[in-house]
Amino acid sequence: MTDSHGANPLRDALDRRLPRIAGPSGLVIFGVTGDLSRKKLMPAVYDLANRGLLPPGFSLVGFARREWEHEDFAQEVYAAVKEHSRTPFREEVWQQLVQGCRFVQGNFDDDEAFETLKETINELDKAQGTGGNFAFYLSVPPKFFPKVVQQLKKHGLADQKEDSWRRAVIEKPFGHNLESAQELNRIVHEVFPPHEVFRIDHYLGKETVQNILALRFANTMFEPLWNRSYVDHVQITMAEDIGIGGRAGYYDGIGAARDVIQNHLLQLLALTAMEEPASFEADALVAEKTKVLGAVRLPKELGKETVRGQYAAGWQGGEKAVGYLQEDGIDPKSKTDTYAAIKLSIDNRRWAGVPFYLRTGKRLGRRVTEIAVVFQRAPHSPFDHTATEELGQNALVIRVQPDEGVTVRFGSKVPGTSMEVRDVSMDFAYGESFTESSPEAYERLILDVLLGDANLFPRLEEVEQSWRILDPIEEYWDKHGKPAQYPAGTWGPAEADEMLARDGRSWRRP
Ligand code: BG6
Repeated sequence: MTDSHGANPLRDALDRRLPRIAGPSGLVIFGVTGDLSRKKLMPAVYDLANRGLLPPGFSLVGFARREWEHEDFAQEVYAAVKEHSRTPFREEVWQQLVQGCRFVQGNFDDDEAFETLKETINELDKAQGTGGNFAFYLSVPPKFFPKVVQQLKKHGLADQKEDSWRRAVIEKPFGHNLESAQELNRIVHEVFPPHEVFRIDHYLGKETVQNILALRFANTMFEPLWNRSYVDHVQITMAEDIGIGGRAGYYDGIGAARDVIQNHLLQLLALTAMEEPASFEADALVAEKTKVLGAVRLPKELGKETVRGQYAAGWQGGEKAVGYLQEDGIDPKSKTDTYAAIKLSIDNRRWAGVPFYLRTGKRLGRRVTEIAVVFQRAPHSPFDHTATEELGQNALVIRVQPDEGVTVRFGSKVPGTSMEVRDVSMDFAYGESFTESSPEAYERLILDVLLGDANLFPRLEEVEQSWRILDPIEEYWDKHGKPAQYPAGTWGPAEADEMLARDGRSWRRP
């Protein structure tokens, strides 16, 4: 049935429920011997194939310095899949995937290697029917981004044709400040048109992060309260129990704020605080996210309202953990932050006067990411003080991970003959409410790249706004002192608690 505009709402609704399957295509991974590729990218490709979301001739090309033959690469993919994929191993899926696995050995400035890559792609187009559609995933340190995209251009690998596409997928960090992000963008856009550039922020690929929009805009009961009239403050926490592992080379000099606040935490803030987009299309989403990020204001006193920390030796999970400065590959005088807490405000009618506290850290008490919207206290209480003295503030907590779900905390009468009110919580847990399994973030994002769907990828405008927020903080930190120390396994430096205590608030202990 169509309406007067020729639209068919029923068909559209059914189309939306059909699995989104990628058309003929392939993925080239630069930096294929790295951790990200082994733990996330290669397993995600297999999981997509296993769920039937890739075309039969899908091809996976690895590019790295390692002296591997195609078979060695296939063996690596196999090991990564066996160890890290989320769906059960099926021999027939693997046998199909391995048909399209190729390896190209070389340096990024090696012209011959890029020519071999070109021949490989042509060969795959013929043998596997990839149709000339290839995405180039730059899973390499940022200093190599310009070289790789320039090589792609020089060897005609980035040429867009009428009936096929070439895309660039760029891992974070996108620059290390506003200026470098803009420069990097200029270089990338000389080679790829803006709509073929996909910047990865894997938090946007998480189900629970996408659910922020569903929770807010598919319901009526939350949004009327989602503003300065009811909300006291918002806390966004991304705590990790791991240290820096083998990533010293990347992490030292970058630190927690650049590593995850600039991207993951500010994206969470944007989704929590933005206005309702006109649709879930990329243009509409980007417009609202950029608008709210543009309204974010820094605290006046950066010394008091931002805190950076660095983990010292301590105990974690019953085991002794070394301090950051003792980690392999770390400069023993390093001032890099492994913890950062920042108070931000948003200058608009909805949020005026509501602080947004962001914190992140490595080697904290436990791994948890959550957004807590903490509500004001009831303006009047008919109960006497003793009845409510233990009562906290109402809160809605979006549990991003682990234990994905949403908790609502509110006061309830304690059963008994006296009037006593205590905090209770109501829980929604993904595992209990849905039988469908969540795709891993990288699965979702790789599929979206192959489909050319840009909704879950930050655009340059958002990246620029994030650096605008972070740059002055980093500059302040560079000039002033050292990070505060906190023992591994604790919840960060005392200064961060003091920061909230000055506002009469405290951090949640998730
Ligand atoms: C990455 C950071 O973006 O996110 C890492 O570079 C961090 O330092 C990781 O450990 C955390 O991701 P997740 O999905 O485990 O929360």
